[in-house]
Amino acid sequence: MAETQVVRQNVLRDEGRLPPVPEPGAMVIFGASGDLTARKLIPALYDLAEGRRLPMEFAVVGISRTEMSHDEFRNRLRDGLEEQRAGSVSEDVWESFSKGLFYLPGDSKKPETYEELKDFLKKLDGERGTSGNRIFYLSSSPSLFPTIVERLGEAGMSREDDGGYSRLVIEKPFGRDLESARHLNGDILRYFREKQIYRIDHYLGKETVQNILALRFSNGIFEPVWNQHYVDHVQITVAEDIGVGTRGAFYEEAGALRDIVQNHVMQVLCLTAMEPPVAFDADSLREEKVKVLKAVRPISEDEVGEAAVRGQYDGGWVFGEEVRGYREEKDVAADSETETYVALKLLVDNWRWAGVPFYVRAGKRMPKKATEISIQFHKTPHTPFSGPDTEGLEPNVLVIRVQPEEGVSLKIGAKVPGSGFEVRSVNMDLLYGSAFMEEAPDAYQRLLLDLMLGDPTLFIRADEAEGAWSILQPVMEGWSKDGHAARYPAGTWGPDEAGELLGHDGREWRRP
Ligand code: BG6
Repeated sequence: MAETQVVRQNVLRDEGRLPPVPEPGAMVIFGASGDLTARKLIPALYDLAEGRRLPMEFAVVGISRTEMSHDEFRNRLRDGLEEQRAGSVSEDVWESFSKGLFYLPGDSKKPETYEELKDFLKKLDGERGTSGNRIFYLSSSPSLFPTIVERLGEAGMSREDDGGYSRLVIEKPFGRDLESARHLNGDILRYFREKQIYRIDHYLGKETVQNILALRFSNGIFEPVWNQHYVDHVQITVAEDIGVGTRGAFYEEAGALRDIVQNHVMQVLCLTAMEPPVAFDADSLREEKVKVLKAVRPISEDEVGEAAVRGQYDGGWVFGEEVRGYREEKDVAADSETETYVALKLLVDNWRWAGVPFYVRAGKRMPKKATEISIQFHKTPHTPFSGPDTEGLEPNVLVIRVQPEEGVSLKIGAKVPGSGFEVRSVNMDLLYGSAFMEEAPDAYQRLLLDLMLGDPTLFIRADEAEGAWSILQPVMEGWSKDGHAARYPAGTWGPDEAGELLGHDGREWRRP
């Protein structure tokens, strides 16, 4: 680009008329030979480079124990990228982007690795102009998080005293229960200040999850009815058609409650239930989310049987294909009781939501992939039409479809054409795909950019992570005493018990 063009672009950026580009810097990825780097992180960074949102003076340094040269690492990442982008990788972009990819083989437990890393990063500052800015991305096994943080701290790499920033990114899970989450947060806070810590939940990077806020707080018509006076109940569904695939070993330790509910589901619940924040900034938003978490009534151990359901898939059929049961998956115990499905009834004890149940569910091997929030409103107090004419009429439901077929629909009653006065429920539908021409960026693209720009708004604060664990702790304790997960055939909407959870209240789950 000509120098005058660069100067012009900088002026436009300063005026806020072009999106900002982050400062130069280096991103160190621990556990770089893992799946996340090739499947998510590098494709997102490549997209940013393609969209000219990445500074030229940027570098990635991968670390893991596997022996590899810089070129082998680059080739591996290129293969991953080809797979993700179905072959459409621009040679020009890749050529300049890949020059900034480096690899250091090393054991993240050993102090020597950090001395080597420090020298390497210094060298990059000189050669690539990375300016002393560092991001440390923990994508290794969670059991290594405390050690890596400690080693970074001992090596002085958490300090920001020579002008450059030092940020720490932690992938979920943030601990495996309340106590371990508190320990982990405590360990990290010995070396990093809260404002240097970016806890990632990729759901917050999804455009349609952010759209919950846009829908609620940029429209005048929803907020007045967004409360117990008008809402009968709320359902949050995170359904996946896939099974655990090659992640059996991880899943045996995690289960659906830790893998999806503690983070993705609780975040979506917070955005749905929170009060309007004063501004869209990190503190205002996170304050409001924490208030919701404080208001959710923990399910006591005695109530676990009535308010929490866990299930595990047996063999069955999904999209016409026969699939094996969870216990037959690779690295899964033949007598495993790990849950692949969870349904909970939660109550939010505050003025807005008193008495409105939030039914949440998350499961693998469901009939389809569908993440959605549905707000079901009260029935009309009275209909002037005759009984038989209103048989097809249901209460109003507002559905926010997070994925796929991203959009919003409102179920309303309408008159069936013809004589008489038959009324039936129909959907008013907004599809983002047709309303906006631009394709939504991948969640990681948004989050990595925010991270480099130093904007923590869409990341999780320590008290949020701990708040979510506090709600789920009694459920985990209750389940650890009674070892049985209800069964459901793959390709169905979960165990019968989940239907009963709503059935007791005279309600039923929506079919997404
Ligand atoms: C991850 C979980 O956080 O989210 C996976 O570990 C799950 O088990 C995935 O499949 C779902 O993400 P998405 O973006 O496909 O809804």
